[in-house]
This record gives sequence, C-alpha cells and structure tokens, in this order.
Amino acid sequence: MSRLDLSVDELLTTTRAVRKRLDLTRPVEREVIEECLTLATQAPTGRNRQHWDFVFVTDPDRRAALADLYRMGLVRPRQPLLGGADAINRGDAEGWDRIADSAQHLFEHLHEVPVLLVPCVRVTDRRELEYPVRLANIYGSILPAVWQFMLAARSRGLGTAWTTPHLHYEREAAKLLDIPYDTVIQTALIPLAYTIGTDFRPGLRVPADEVAHWDRW
Ligand SMILES: Cc1cc2nc3c(=O)[nH]c(=O)nc-3n(C[C@H](O)[C@H](O)[C@H](O)COP(=O)(O)O)c2cc1C
Repeated sequence: MSRLDLSVDELLTTTRAVRKRLDLTRPVEREVIEECLTLATQAPTGRNRQHWDFVFVTDPDRRAALADLYRMGLVRPRQPLLGGADAINRGDAEGWDRIADSAQHLFEHLHEVPVLLVPCVRVTDRRELEYPVRLANIYGSILPAVWQFMLAARSRGLGTAWTTPHLHYEREAAKLLDIPYDTVIQTALIPLAYTIGTDFRPGLRVPADEVAHWDRW
C-alpha cells in the first residue's frame, strides 16, 4: 500500500471530486479501505455517539443495481428542486456546466467503479429528519467522518466523489443492501477507486474574503 507524499495543505486542496480519472480496472484492497475507515472513526460526532456505519458495496450485481438507482435519481428525481438554484450560485466558483462532462462519465460508468460506499446514520425514528436541529446533528455526525475517509483515501492514491441522486430511491437501495430503512438514513453514494495519475490541482473556488462575515452578516 503506497502513500502519496502530500503536505497537509496539499491534501486539503487537492482532494477533488474524481469521476473521469477513477481507475475502473484496478481492484481496491480491503486493507486500504479498512485503514481509511480506521482514520474516519476519529472524526467528531454529536455526543461522541458514533452512530454511523459505512456500507461498502463491492459485489458486481449489487453495484450495478445501485448504479441504476443513481441513474434513476438523476433522470427521474422523486423530489422537486425548490426555487431557482441560480439564485444562490456564486460567480467565481466552478459551475455545473463545467462539471457536466465529468458527471456524464460517472453516470455511464458508475457500475464499473470497484467500490461504492454508502455512509449511513442510525436514528431512533426516521421522523427525526423533520426537525432542523436533529438534522444538523444527523448530518453533522456523518460529514466529518466521510470527509476524513475521503482525505485518507486521497493520501493513498484513491479518488472519491460525493453523490446523492440515488437517495431519491433510498428505500429501494435499503432493500438491495439489507439496510433497515426505518432506523438507518443513507446520506450519500461515494464511488471509490484508485486514481489514474495522482496529480490533482486545487479547485476553482470563491475567494475566502467573499465568504467571510465578521461580527454580522
Ligand atoms: C452534497 C454534495 C452532493 C454532490 N452531488 C454530486 C452528484 O450527484 N454527482 C456528482 O458527480 N458530484 C456530486 N458532488 C460533487 C461536487 O460536484 C464537487 O464536490 C464539487 O463540484 C467540487 O468539485 P471539485 O471537488 O472537483 O473541486 C456533490 C458534492 C456534495 C458535497
């Protein structure tokens, strides 16, 4: 298992969404996944309850079925977009039109990606999703762990991309993966593979002074 020689700042600025450069032919060893997972368990969670689980899907048939749900979520989303997303877009950030080509590649090849990760959070009742503060705790307890996993993966030459469209068909995905739907919330679907080449540049982002508010909005 090789490690890339990246400084912390390089790691933080070059862990990008990888779609076209996922190596679909190279298997990912279970040990490297477990190593990244061990690092992810160090992430903070609400009340240190660590009520999350990662489901790694490697079986080809299950990957194919999950990829189909992702595609269905994009083509036939169950929940409508509310309002115009353009209203909250920021000028200098990389827009979706620049990402579209890469997203199309993932759309076509997702089933070929060697590992599909579905990060999940346990809840006592799915209705917890109706309350904003609970919601903040649910997603706030999984996001750091997943990002920590993605950083650890990058440092070992692996690429990932956060995606959510399959969640339009979360119930179907739960059935496919034997996830108890009523008490376990799926939060994303993350393709995981070695990258083709390991050099990645920092992304185009909104300048920090445009996102900072000091003392008031
Ligand atoms: C909540 C969330 C949802 C996302 N959904 C998708 C998705 O459905 N499909 C996809 O290809 N990328 C998705 N992404 C990846 C983003 O497009 C990507 O992180 C962002 O454009 C920055 O790109 P970069 O990492 O290359 O700089 C998602 C990212 C986040 C955080």
